[in-house]
Amino acid sequence: MKTTITSLLALVFLTKGLLAQPKKQGFLYQDAGKPIEERISDLLGRMTLEEKVMQLNQYTLGRNDNANNMADPVNDIPAEIGSLIYFSSNPDLRNRVQHKAMEKSRLGIPILFGYDVIHGFRTIYPISLAQACSWNPELVRQATAVAAQESRMSGVDWTFSPMIDVARDGRWGRVAEGYGEDPYTNAVFAVASVKGYQGDNLASPTNVAACLKHYVGYGASEGGRDYVYTEISNQTLWDTYMLPYEEGVKAGAATLMSSFNDISGTPSSANEYLLRDILKKRWQHDGFVVSDWGAIVQLTAQGVAKDRKEATLKSFNAGVEMDMMNQCYDRHLADLVKEGKVKADLLDDAVKRVLRVKFRLGLFERPFTPVSTEKERFLLPKSLKIATRLAEESIVLLKNERKTLPLSAALKKIAVIGPMSNSKWNLLGSWRAQGNADDATTVYEGLKRELEGKTQVVQAPGCDFDGNDQSGFAEAVNMAAGADAIVVCLGEKSQWSGENASRSTIALPQLQEELLFALKKTGKPLILVLSSGRPLELNRLEPLCDAIVTMWQPGTPGGSPIAAVISGKVNPSGKLAMTFPYATGQIPIYYNHRQSARPHQGKYQDIQAKPLYDFGYGLSYTTFEYGDLKASARKVKSDGTLTLEVAVKNTGDADGLETVHWYLSDPVSSISRPLKALKYFQKQLVKKGETRIFSFQVNVKKDFGFVDGKGEKFIEAGDYEVMVKDKKIKIEVTP
Ligand code: BGC
Repeated sequence: MKTTITSLLALVFLTKGLLAQPKKQGFLYQDAGKPIEERISDLLGRMTLEEKVMQLNQYTLGRNDNANNMADPVNDIPAEIGSLIYFSSNPDLRNRVQHKAMEKSRLGIPILFGYDVIHGFRTIYPISLAQACSWNPELVRQATAVAAQESRMSGVDWTFSPMIDVARDGRWGRVAEGYGEDPYTNAVFAVASVKGYQGDNLASPTNVAACLKHYVGYGASEGGRDYVYTEISNQTLWDTYMLPYEEGVKAGAATLMSSFNDISGTPSSANEYLLRDILKKRWQHDGFVVSDWGAIVQLTAQGVAKDRKEATLKSFNAGVEMDMMNQCYDRHLADLVKEGKVKADLLDDAVKRVLRVKFRLGLFERPFTPVSTEKERFLLPKSLKIATRLAEESIVLLKNERKTLPLSAALKKIAVIGPMSNSKWNLLGSWRAQGNADDATTVYEGLKRELEGKTQVVQAPGCDFDGNDQSGFAEAVNMAAGADAIVVCLGEKSQWSGENASRSTIALPQLQEELLFALKKTGKPLILVLSSGRPLELNRLEPLCDAIVTMWQPGTPGGSPIAAVISGKVNPSGKLAMTFPYATGQIPIYYNHRQSARPHQGKYQDIQAKPLYDFGYGLSYTTFEYGDLKASARKVKSDGTLTLEVAVKNTGDADGLETVHWYLSDPVSSISRPLKALKYFQKQLVKKGETRIFSFQVNVKKDFGFVDGKGEKFIEAGDYEVMVKDKKIKIEVTP
């Protein structure tokens, strides 16, 4: 169906004589020496209405590899198209299509090639939720820079990443794609990844344009179901969902993607307040907004537009500049301009925004991608090193009774059991771009390599990821009974998280739980290794395990980083960026909730009130002792500054990385505030026996202040509490 539409459009343009117009030569917009804004105005002045409209459309080039977005491949790409989703890793393909745009279109405007490079292009690094658990934004900056280099050298100019949707419901599959439940954490990693993707100069042949998504509130999807309604008060919108976007825009993100969700009656993709008043006017964003796939036409499903034309009108006027696979703008925008329903200057503003990003990317000067070999681009040793370090630092040790881990070198034999024990594919997670499972090592392979010559490693799956077939249990249990310790690898398949991958429960399938129950009967030490795209419900498994560790979905490094942790070569340092509920029924449960009217009551009768593992929780092979918090002053002015410090001593017998989280509480405020909110974090290596000072330079207004339902920041005089672990001090803020 779509093939026909786009071919027809191409024909319309041809018959309008676009291709027969004056040859492009020596125009100001082609002069790289002129300022970009002058070049944009010159080019805009030469464009016809149809050419302008085509700049605002994005089609797919070839097959779409996102299983949730169905469309026929577009076989006949119009030379005037603004952007294409590009699913290939072959620069030749891009160059062929780009030649058509440069040579066959009247003005030779290069096409912008976009792609979902979510956690790596070919070198896949851990999913974003895991990255957040590393608390190492610099490492994330480096990893996103690797993704940018591999992408740009393969013909991709623009990634639809980072996803910075604060998410508090593990049933929602897309929690894997964001940085967890905390607004500040999402903001920090938004900035880190924008810097990694874009570098200092978008025109560099190894940088790509970033896209903050999904603007905004998509993480509030009711019941964790995807694409559904979101009920978000203005207060919650501002104090929970907006910060990562505001910071990402400040960091220079070239583009944003409007989300699918309906925010309290006004879908994001038709939300003039959010797109125009806030993003473009208040935050002065001068790049463009692309709709999510089909989010414009879906305004009809959401009940705010009667047809595609009205959806076009609403979305465009609200401030969505580019139509991703809706067939709305290409069909209706020109008519709406002619009818006066869309103002010509708004159309010009939209086109300017798209052109601005293209000029900044240097596409007019270098529309083609230099051809290089895969070896020159992919899986470079330094890229793999970054991915591996990030995977190591993302691993969170959740339980370690009697120092079960690291494994004693004296063990003669270990059994690696479970459906995840020898799986490659499922370690990559969803959105693996051009990732190749064959590049990854399984946990079994990783352990064999790591323990070679010391401990014998045997393996059996025991069962599949789900279903009822327990016929493999006996072999696995026998094998485990003959070993000195069991590493049980359980978890989720890649496609169980990501888009359109909601689950009614965050527990593992019963089959996997039963495998662990059966293994427990051997009486051998049980080490549970988890791989998943969301926090899991572990209350039935936790009491049975001697150690529990999650590696999330580590990407190309696969099982090697967890093997290094199990062997003790790497001391785990990850801490949770999302709460592990005790049971699914506790959802939503997150650390920065507001206080109940009766904190001592209102609990569920049948389960504990606390989650199983809190936000910020994670063990190490060493121990850290925190000194008292010190402040440069106990009384500060609301526009003042302050230095806070804490000394952390490594009291154990291994070097270790420690992350200090600084929380703030404002017990009495005119608008109730989270019980505690993360304001700053820092990670440092603290060697055995050493003490290091962690400090937080406070900007009182910014760090102690709050935001109201209009997005206005304010600070009130009074007493505040700063918290680090179980240490607390009071700071008085004066007017
Ligand atoms: C997803 C986006 C993605 C887009 C393009 C949509 O379905 O929600 O996150 O960037 O598809 O693949």
